[in-house]
Amino acid sequence: MIPAEFINEVKDRNDITDVIGGYVNLKRSGRNSKGLCPFHSEKTPSFTVYGDTSSFYCFGCQTAGDVITFISKIENLDYVEAVKFLANRAGLVVPEEGKNDGLSHMRLRIKEQNREAGRFFYKSLYSPAGKQALEYFHSRGLTDEIIRRFGLGWSPDGWDQLVSHLNGLGYKREEILAADLGFTSRKGGLIDRFRNRVMFPIIDIQGNVVAFGGRKFTEDAGGGKYVNTSDTLIYKKTNQLFAMNIAKNDKTRELILCEGYMDVIALHQAGFTNAVAALGTAVTPQQARLLHKYADRVVLSQDGDEAGQKSIARSIPIMKAEGLDVRVLQITGAKDPDEFIRKFGPERFKRLLEGCSNDIEYSILRIGGKYDISTDDGRLHYLREVCDYLSGLGTLEREVYASRIADRLHIEKSAVLSQADASARRREKSEKEKEFREMARNTAGIGSKVNPDRSAHLKGSTAEYALLEMLFSHQDLIKKAADMLPPEQFVTEFGRRVYSKFIEIVDSGQELTVSLLSREFSESETAEIIRIVNSGESRGTGDFGELIEIIRTEHSTPRPQDAAKLSPDELLEQMNRLRKKKT
Ligand code: CTP
Ligand code: MN
Repeated sequence: MIPAEFINEVKDRNDITDVIGGYVNLKRSGRNSKGLCPFHSEKTPSFTVYGDTSSFYCFGCQTAGDVITFISKIENLDYVEAVKFLANRAGLVVPEEGKNDGLSHMRLRIKEQNREAGRFFYKSLYSPAGKQALEYFHSRGLTDEIIRRFGLGWSPDGWDQLVSHLNGLGYKREEILAADLGFTSRKGGLIDRFRNRVMFPIIDIQGNVVAFGGRKFTEDAGGGKYVNTSDTLIYKKTNQLFAMNIAKNDKTRELILCEGYMDVIALHQAGFTNAVAALGTAVTPQQARLLHKYADRVVLSQDGDEAGQKSIARSIPIMKAEGLDVRVLQITGAKDPDEFIRKFGPERFKRLLEGCSNDIEYSILRIGGKYDISTDDGRLHYLREVCDYLSGLGTLEREVYASRIADRLHIEKSAVLSQADASARRREKSEKEKEFREMARNTAGIGSKVNPDRSAHLKGSTAEYALLEMLFSHQDLIKKAADMLPPEQFVTEFGRRVYSKFIEIVDSGQELTVSLLSREFSESETAEIIRIVNSGESRGTGDFGELIEIIRTEHSTPRPQDAAKLSPDELLEQMNRLRKKKT
């Protein structure tokens, strides 16, 4: 355990706006700062950093927390690691750790088991029983050298081969379950997660084996094509990239992003040691960040099928938002890079790489592929869609590509540009409306899981939130409030719990902080609390008595109304009335 005083010192010495500013381009707005959220993809900034309360909140994805939460999320570290990271940043020396706490001990046990499992699978592959699996790898063109470099393996047939091996090494049932290397059978026994599959270990950039993928390699075997480790204490699928541990050593600052294990391995064997895979899904912002750590340019090399093209379309904006230069490689004559290399050889793949288009050319080409521009109808539809696309680009790019499109259709460039402008205006308007609607629903708590009582008791809960905000910034008032208004008289259950916690913390002589609260509430509850205490009204204490009176009245004579039935405009008007005039 790291002493609480040290953690406080770490937080004091790492100004949240400074720290986050290192990752997110923040613009000051009043006392707070705003930027594009690094945890989900968005076009307009809804990620807010509050200097006053040392916390952040994203109105788009509801991710929130203090500076330590931010670092652990963005750097994919656990709590203790994040504290150390920030201590380092501030030049503080972490006091010697005493005993490991439970969670970090479990993490360690999972890492050790995974390493053991990796060795076990590799050995099994080269045992007599693994012959068929080894033949399978060989039949797909893999050499023993590449098998060793990637630590591939075979999970033996049977029910509990690995489980017994791990038991023998002293790993207990709950540890094996936590590593997701086994699961509980219907009869209650512990069964191997991977049985009779060829195994691909996923290794993080520190060199830890964090997960496995297992592929079926005989037709008669049961189950789906792949079985994968679910998320564990040390593995989050959406944060990892397969083979990044090897590709990070490539010095070209360019990475090739494929879909599957076999694509990556085939590319490495052919000499393209900068290939990685997101494993069958579109890139996430976290993966884009990881890519950007080691590369400035990413070549998307997805399968040629429709699913691959869809994944490209979804990945492009996320990677561009991260500031990466994106290229798209079009595979033809083979279904994926693995098959392409096997069929045509590395030289041809190299030429594909050299000739790949940038993301804009790719997107325009793809739209073009949908229409027959030799007909008037086709030209019109093409123009409409391609201008829609252009409208989302910067001015300079819009100019350049408008010329190309105009040439292709033999029309005036100005016609293309004005169509694109109109489309941009339409889009902006509808995006604004959408954001407005969502904002209104969010602030009124419609659909809120954290505080399901809120939208039916808007008046009471709005007063509760205002009171909680006031109390958070004037903590000397909490005792007085507790005397006048016992928690039982709160209208919403959630508000009551937060209020009780406020009282409890102050009674115990501690200072109320977002960090302290985040220990007491779940992640989504903490997010809601952060939103409440930063809602920006920053009222004086003048309304204190009035707020208490409203809560009391709404509690004794509740007048439920269904806010979900109101239009966004009515909602907002209502909210403004409740907050500003407090009637
Ligand atoms: N995948 C998965 N589960 C599935 C199918 C796919 O997890 N049921 C993931 C795997 O990580 C896989 C990637 O998506 O590597 C790409 O899928 P696919 O193209 O179907 O597989 P390949 O890896 O190309 O396998 P192969 O060439 O052996 O068919
Ligand atoms: Mn394949």
